[in-house]
Amino acid sequence: MTLNATSSDRAADRAEQQSGSLSAAARRLPEGFVLGVATAAYQIEGARHVEGRADSIWDTFSHTPGAVVDGHTGDVACDHYHRFAEDVALMQRLGVQSYRFSTSWARVCPDGRAVNAKGLDFYERLVDALLTAGITPWLTLYHWDLPQALEDRGGWPVRETADRFVDYALAVHDRLGDRVSTWTTLNEPWCSAFVGYTSGEHAPGRQSPADGLAAAHHLMLGHGQTVRALRSRDANLQLGLTLNFTVADPVDPADPCDVDAARRVDGQMNRMFLDPVFRGQYPADVLADVAGLGLEHHVRPGDLATISAPIDVLGVNYYNGGAFSHLPPVTALSGAPATTRQTRSPFPAADGVHGHPRGLPVTSMDWEVQPEGLTRLLVRLHEEYTGRAGTTLHVTENGAAFDDRPDEQGFVDDRARVEYVRSHLSSVVDAVEAGVPVQGYFYWSFMDNFEWAWGYAKRFGIVRVDYDTQERTPKASALDYARIIRTRELAVVSRERGEDDGRRSPQATSGVSDV
Ligand code: FCB
Repeated sequence: MTLNATSSDRAADRAEQQSGSLSAAARRLPEGFVLGVATAAYQIEGARHVEGRADSIWDTFSHTPGAVVDGHTGDVACDHYHRFAEDVALMQRLGVQSYRFSTSWARVCPDGRAVNAKGLDFYERLVDALLTAGITPWLTLYHWDLPQALEDRGGWPVRETADRFVDYALAVHDRLGDRVSTWTTLNEPWCSAFVGYTSGEHAPGRQSPADGLAAAHHLMLGHGQTVRALRSRDANLQLGLTLNFTVADPVDPADPCDVDAARRVDGQMNRMFLDPVFRGQYPADVLADVAGLGLEHHVRPGDLATISAPIDVLGVNYYNGGAFSHLPPVTALSGAPATTRQTRSPFPAADGVHGHPRGLPVTSMDWEVQPEGLTRLLVRLHEEYTGRAGTTLHVTENGAAFDDRPDEQGFVDDRARVEYVRSHLSSVVDAVEAGVPVQGYFYWSFMDNFEWAWGYAKRFGIVRVDYDTQERTPKASALDYARIIRTRELAVVSRERGEDDGRRSPQATSGVSDV
């Protein structure tokens, strides 16, 4: 770790200079608002077969030729399994208030059934280190790493996987229930189901709309069953899940075909998961879209009552929205990893729907930077779903990969990421001021890590990881984040001065991208 007085002072000076050039006003964060950082087990831990861990679907997938950029794997990743104490110490020095991490199912139940006590020992060490450092643990039970043994028995398209998930969740709770109060079941079931089983870009790499739909239902069933089981053990736990959202706008709001294109994306990405949880039903229009793909064969009486078990907190992952049309654009944002495997659209029933770039700035993922979408999303969630349920909101992921260029000391002066964080935090404050109970924000990610099909080619961290030496170096964005946490003040980008903060309205430009 390199966070000595000299380097951090020098970097802090630079961050201050940046804030001077970017900001005309400071904005206070809401009272009690929690600022944290997020990671996930497979992306950082490494220690593939250490102390009884067996393979997950991501081990198998990343070792499949052509599946991940440059053949990268999570075998070592950030070696967090062995360096967690150093990582927690760095979080503490930055002032991080809460740490969102996930437990690895394949570490805790290597064969999908029997519990590996040594795997739980690791998470106990981690949680104890966090508590000693004054950092609140926020635990996610499933961040995409299904034990390969369960995939071999059919994976998420098979109903029994939901039961095994409950067993695993209870095993983790047996060990950590007295120390962790916030438990989220799933991270982004849309990705697990549709990027994993329909598009094939993620593990396990299947390309079947029917399997994606079956997986989505069983993931949500596993969520509901786990919420019920944990709730009956301890009524004081904060329970919920994290969903990933887009804000789908029609390219031409006056064109009914574009409106329908946006509806399909919103339905199959957002409402497909929100409606079962908050309304106890799948949306009628989505059921019509996916008719013939077999979803109804998996939905048994009582399932939706289980899935709609009340939750305390909804985790919101937001990176960007999109503009959609029935017409293809002239030029497209690419966004696809440079791998050799063929993939298809993750949407089970959105053929002929095209995403259009809007001329907004983009990150190195080719994801548009659209902070105002986060305000719109949070307000909508509150008004249409969470408000009446009394469910609070946390932004559990938001962040950006940029083409970081370290200096000789490994320091990255990542001005674009500083601006990204400030503008999105400011959008969260806009939502709070509009009456939405958003209680916290976790930056994705604490440190650079294994970015799924992109391997180590994309860096989201506010802390740089040198993968040759495993040295951690806080970037300017980490120092700026630490300053925000310390001062509770946000320097905002001034609109009067004409700075581009990504708040342009969607407009049709060009491109060729199917969703
Ligand atoms: C989210 C994932 C997270 C990370 C970010 C960039 O979809 O939950 O693991 O890869 O994207």
